[in-house]
This record gives sequence, C-alpha cells and structure tokens, in this order.
Amino acid sequence: MIRIEQTRQGLSALGMGCWGFGGDYWKKQSRDLNRKTLVAALRKGISHFDTAPAYGNGESEQILGQLLHKELLKGSPERRASISLTSKFFPTLPQNVYKGLARSLKRLMTDYLDVYYLHWPNDKCDIQGIMGELERARAEGLIRAVGVSNFTLAQMEKVNRYGRIDFCQTGYSLLWRYPEKEIIPWCMQEGVKVIAYSPLAQGLLKTRNLNKQYRDGTATRKNSPPLLFPAGDPRRQLIFFRDEEGLLDVLNAFEEVISPLFTLQHGSLNWLKGREGIKGVLAGMRNPDQVQTAGEAWINPLPEELVDMLDGISREYWRKLERINPDADNIWAHKR
Ligand SMILES: NC(=O)c1ccc[n+]([C@@H]2O[C@H](COP(=O)([O-])OP(=O)(O)OC[C@H]3O[C@@H](n4cnc5c(N)ncnc54)[C@H](OP(=O)(O)O)[C@@H]3O)[C@@H](O)[C@H]2O)c1
Repeated sequence: MIRIEQTRQGLSALGMGCWGFGGDYWKKQSRDLNRKTLVAALRKGISHFDTAPAYGNGESEQILGQLLHKELLKGSPERRASISLTSKFFPTLPQNVYKGLARSLKRLMTDYLDVYYLHWPNDKCDIQGIMGELERARAEGLIRAVGVSNFTLAQMEKVNRYGRIDFCQTGYSLLWRYPEKEIIPWCMQEGVKVIAYSPLAQGLLKTRNLNKQYRDGTATRKNSPPLLFPAGDPRRQLIFFRDEEGLLDVLNAFEEVISPLFTLQHGSLNWLKGREGIKGVLAGMRNPDQVQTAGEAWINPLPEELVDMLDGISREYWRKLERINPDADNIWAHKR
C-alpha cells in the first residue's frame, strides 16, 4: 500500500475534500460512487477528510460520517485516531458555536473534530466571544485545533488577538496565487499551517488535450469554453472566466509544457506540494480514478525544470489576472 505522508499534526499532506458528497454545487453522484471513492482514498493512505455543513446543507458531513463509520471506524477509537476530520462553521453569535459543533459531530458520528474552521469571515460578529467558545471547545476535547478560511491578513490578525489560529485553509493553485502575497508569509511567521484548497482550480487544471483538439479541428476557440465546463455548470462563475481567452491561453501553455509525458493534474499537484509554507492540499476527488491519479501525482515528483516552467507560465498569468481583478481575493470574488 502506498502511504501518503503525514504531517506531524496527523493530517495526511494530501487530503480528500468532500464538498462533492453534498451534491449542491457539484453534480450529485450516487452513494455507491461516493463509497467507492472513499474506500479508494483510505486504501491509498489518505487520512485527512475535509467537509462543512454548507456542503449540501449537512449532507456532505452526514454521508462522510456514515461511510467512514461503515468502512473504517466501526466505533473504534484507535481507528478514529488514525484519521483527521475537519469541518467548518459560519461565525454568527458566540452562543451558536456549540450548537453548530454538536450538529457537525452528530452528522460525522464522531466525538471530536481535528480542525474546526471559521468557514468565511464575518466582520459584524463578536469574534472575541466566538474565539472564547472555540477555546472552551478545545479545552473540553471537542476540537483539536482552530482554523480560519478565506480570511484576509487583517481579519486573521484580528482573530489572532483573541485566540490561537492553528490552520489557515485557502484557495491556491497554478491559476490562483493570491495567498502568496501576504497570507502565506504571515502564516509562516506565526506558525499557522496553511492548507490549500481547489488545487486543480475546480477541475480546470487537468489535461484535456486542447492543443490536439485545436489541431484536428474538434475544438475551436469559440466552442472551447463550454468544452472546459458545460453551460449551466456553476464553475463558470469562477473569476478565471472573466477573461476566457486568457484562460484558454494559459491552459494551452501548461499543456504544451506537460504533455504528452505527464498530465496537468500531476503538474498542478506537484507544483503545489513543493510550495513554501504549504502543509497540506485538499483535492476534490470524485471517483476512484481521480483518487488514483491524485495519489500517484502526489508521490511521483516531476522533473524540476518542468515544474519551473509551469511556475513561470503561472506567474505571468497571475500578474495579468491580478491586474484585471485587483479586489478579488477569492476565486469567486465573493464579497466578505
Ligand atoms: N474553505 C473553503 O471555502 C473551500 C472552498 C473550496 C473547496 N474547499 C475544500 O477543498 C476541496 C477541494 O476543492 P475543490 O473541489 O473546489 O477543487 P479541486 O480539487 O481543485 O477540483 C475538484 C474537481 O477537479 C476534478 N478532479 C479532481 N481530481 C482529479 C484528478 N485526479 N484528475 C482529473 N480531474 C480531477 C474534478 O472535476 P470533474 O468532475 O469536472 O472532472 C473535481 O470535481 C473541497 O472538497 C473542500 O473540501 C474549501
């Protein structure tokens, strides 16, 4: 069995994002496929599973809890200790922290969470009161660590005044390099562990042989955007689609470098694994094949020159994207 390396905190460095189990944003998939995907991940040695109540209004947590219980835990504390379960909440009132936590623990069929993240910031909430409740939950053993997600530097500094932040979960990929500027350096300085999400930019960063399709006429620049994601797919709201031409250009450039020997998903995960300050990566694997590809990509390094070339192309693209969207600090440009 190939083991995915573990960080000292027990999170496997390659984690499985379980947003897809919720089926809201992603196309709903069968319970059987979810089970097969989870079993494949466990077999690969993946032991870090990330979810949130927001993913399908609790459905992702529930499915993950039930499947894990059936496939692995079976009430065994030793088996529970061998995996990391992380979930999140939207900060509102301090008295809601325990209520939300109790619901998540119940759905996940567990006594504790390894990391409990503030999913998104809320500048209007009583952050001091919320951090107080989280510290209480930590002292009572209901959570092992506190994390923030999608926070700006100023928001993290504020939280840090009222309690300890252990983890920061942020979008980060060859297409999205926003956290490099302030977030990652600050986390490194403060000893906060950075976990990168959407490493494949939600499925954009995978080999589609676009160049070949252009050459043989299957794809044209006109029909390529739907070829990336079909009409109606919510991922077309991602900020990259504000400049579709630029997106196609950069994906073509990546493919030119990486194909035919390797895949773009391999390049993307390898690039991310080597980035300074990154302690873990959450990939949204949706089927056993994707688990297999991600696991293999994670443990098989690519030639350094290749990763450097991807990095160069990515840097140039990011400079342009930043110019087009100077205020966008998340990949959907959601207002905080
Ligand atoms: N804290 C937050 O606000 C936040 C936000 C986003 C995500 N997350 C976490 O991060 C996890 C991962 O992020 P994500 O799902 O947004 O993005 P992602 O991992 O970048 O993309 C997932 C998509 O990429 C494709 N894919 C995945 N593995 C593949 C492989 N090996 N080969 C080819 N294609 C592959 C699939 O798309 P197709 O089905 O189209 O092939 C899959 O649905 C989530 O599940 C969640 O736990 C957290």
